[in-house]
Amino acid sequence: MKHEIYFTLNHEKILHEVKANKTLLQMLREDFDLTGAKEGCGQGECGACTVLLNGKPINSCLVLAVEVDGKEITTIEGLSEGINLDELQKSFITNGALQCGYCTPGMIMTAKGFLNANPTPTLEEIKVAISGNLCRCTGYKRIIEAIIEVAEENQSKD
Ligand code: FES
Ligand code: FES
Repeated sequence: MKHEIYFTLNHEKILHEVKANKTLLQMLREDFDLTGAKEGCGQGECGACTVLLNGKPINSCLVLAVEVDGKEITTIEGLSEGINLDELQKSFITNGALQCGYCTPGMIMTAKGFLNANPTPTLEEIKVAISGNLCRCTGYKRIIEAIIEVAEENQSKD
């Protein structure tokens, strides 16, 4: 059985019919071709599927699509404006904070939601914030440096 949901996806109002048992991750990837969010574990343990729900990072593999009715979803595809990348996307590139890239969209979305709530965090706060996002390649050092760089830019704007 399908349900009609009305929600905002990457700044666009969407009316969509979706099966009751479909996850948000499945809906984004299969119905909207938004393949930035990845399925890693499918159990809420790796963070590869992270998107923002009303500005907060969530594991989209654990949320049913019907639950986003009336809410706002932002995926990695919604961060850039045309060819203009978000500051975190730029910082990940300039700091070499990715290798295979599988974890990267989820990592950036977690960092984005975290910095929205806490624009000038400490190093420890950053480590805790990304602790639910697994990266098997980078060793995290450059990821943390990329996030610190954006946090420092935020600080200089104060
Ligand atoms: S795929 Fe969702 S947390 Fe791993
Ligand atoms: S860059 Fe490969 S898993 Fe993070």
